[in-house]
Amino acid sequence: ALATALEAQLQLREVAGIPLQASTVDNWNQIQNFEAKPDDLLICTYPKSGTTWIQEIVDMIEHNGDVEKCQRAIIQHRHPFIEWARPPQPSGVEKANAMPSPRILRTHLPTQLLPPSFWENNCKFLYVARNAKDCMVSYYHFQRMNQMLPDPGTWEEYFETFISGKVGWGSWYDHVKGWWEIKDRYQILFLFYEDIKQDPKHEIQKVMQFMGKNLDETVLDKIVQETSFEKMKENPMVNRSTVPKSILDQSISPFMRKGTVGDWKNHFTVAQNERFNEIYRQKMEGSSIHFTEL
Ligand code: A3P
Repeated sequence: ALATALEAQLQLREVAGIPLQASTVDNWNQIQNFEAKPDDLLICTYPKSGTTWIQEIVDMIEHNGDVEKCQRAIIQHRHPFIEWARPPQPSGVEKANAMPSPRILRTHLPTQLLPPSFWENNCKFLYVARNAKDCMVSYYHFQRMNQMLPDPGTWEEYFETFISGKVGWGSWYDHVKGWWEIKDRYQILFLFYEDIKQDPKHEIQKVMQFMGKNLDETVLDKIVQETSFEKMKENPMVNRSTVPKSILDQSISPFMRKGTVGDWKNHFTVAQNERFNEIYRQKMEGSSIHFTEL
């Protein structure tokens, strides 16, 4: 019975065609009725696009580079995850409701599934996009090690699953296009993982300005250092080392896996790459978004 209950939980279920975790779907009314506040900042990403990284950057900026303050809790507890639900733990909505303002929240939801009050309150959105190929590779390894997600199968199988959008939070293409299209209509800072990797200080400065903060050069340099992959991999407050192995099995693949641009080259065959490029062209046709890596 336990095995069956667990399996049922692992199934993704759809909301308006978007696969989500079953516990999220069970809680969908509460999520849709979430009441955002005008001074909320929402961190938005497709999974495996550098969510933890931007969360740590934002937290460091908010706390003026004070490392100790950023050690106050594990990163999953610092910024409520709006659509998160795993009873009997408090849901993301409940955690957000209990949080004093100004709040920093996070989500993986595509624009069409976001609780409407975020738009109504003209909140600030910080979106981070990562190129599809590296995202696919990262998601594949994450589904291997995350015991709460469906088994990804072989790399060849996962390649098709990802392209068809049959993964948690749906199609990468639709997610990225959706947020990109509305970026000038709302207060959206749209960043790229590849740019943060290339010139972290420059991108961190953009985040700082977006947050209405003004930090010294020395503080900025410290934030760059503290949020490097090497530092974060060793930081127990962000590297998920406190999560039990029965949930995240880091012996299969570490949560802080590689943190590089272009790891797809170690996974894609030449044929897969050609097929991917053709599909990418079709799916992204008409969108002006441009990734430096593809
Ligand atoms: P890889 O699997 O390619 O290594 P998310 O937080 O959205 O789940 O994203 C996880 C991805 O971001 C992983 O990618 C992880 O290694 C990478 N990442 C986390 N912290 C990083 C950092 N400081 N610099 C670069 N990449 C980072």
